[in-house]
Amino acid sequence: ESTLGRAAAQSGRYFGTAIASGRLNDSTYTTIAGRQFNSVTAENEMKIDATEPQQGQFNFTAGDRVYNWAVQNGKQVRGHTLAWHSQQPGWMQNLSGGALRQAMTNHINGVMGHYKGKITQWDVVNEAFADGTSGARRDSNLQRSGNDWIEVAFRTARAADPAAKLCYNDYNVENWTWAKTQAMYAMVRDFKQRGVPIDCVGFQAHFNSGSPYNSNFRTTLQSFAALGVDVAVTELDIQGASATTYADVTSDCLAVPRCLGITVWGVRDTDSWRPEHSPLLFNGDGSKKAAYTSVLNAL
Ligand code: XIL
Repeated sequence: ESTLGRAAAQSGRYFGTAIASGRLNDSTYTTIAGRQFNSVTAENEMKIDATEPQQGQFNFTAGDRVYNWAVQNGKQVRGHTLAWHSQQPGWMQNLSGGALRQAMTNHINGVMGHYKGKITQWDVVNEAFADGTSGARRDSNLQRSGNDWIEVAFRTARAADPAAKLCYNDYNVENWTWAKTQAMYAMVRDFKQRGVPIDCVGFQAHFNSGSPYNSNFRTTLQSFAALGVDVAVTELDIQGASATTYADVTSDCLAVPRCLGITVWGVRDTDSWRPEHSPLLFNGDGSKKAAYTSVLNAL
């Protein structure tokens, strides 16, 4: 039987999905996920609020549930995510300045230490740029702690688990003409020039009517790869799940030797964070959508 994971493996890539620990007792879900995908990202379970609910007290119960399911089913695991303005626990939301900086590095060390040697790629920093035309950093407590917070996070991450590929991950950075894309590009170029450890850039690829897929995504992937980093499609979903667009995104990744693989952000439409968009590859009843066949044929 051909599956997304096996088809992607033919070119040395993976095809992954986000897994939610709360669905692991749903056999329709685990059957599809177990067969079709060969990479897993925890949808929420390795985020800051999940892994360090109280300052200095780490909890890996839910993260390990996802991790163990993935490994027991032969899948690699992407780590998501260590430093982010969102889904911070209350204690972190209330921190700023040097105390926040210290908490950020302690968090990276705690989570990466627990999973040391087990995670292929970590999204070290998530969503640090502002939407719109400014090209500025997003305002957040992390950004206000000092503009160097991103490079500090990456240097800390490299020391914590030297085997993991370290990624910067963001959305609305797929269109090469967008200011946010260019701002991210300038940061990665600067990091490479100055020797800040960064190995990969993740393109979330949440496509919808407000930020639709554009064929210049391939130029974006190629341009970042030319800086000397790997690229990955990390959270793909497409409003309406156009079979053509799914095939285009797949072909874009395959056209770029440094594109490591594709992750869709959930299994069935009913598992999606945006179920009203019906953006995924499987219907709520577990049947394959046209977009599924289209991706498989493009791989
Ligand atoms: C989403 C999850 O899918 C939801 O379950 C949660 O309520 C909010 O976060 N960008 C990211 C992901 O990097 O972590 C987000 O995941 C979707 C947008």
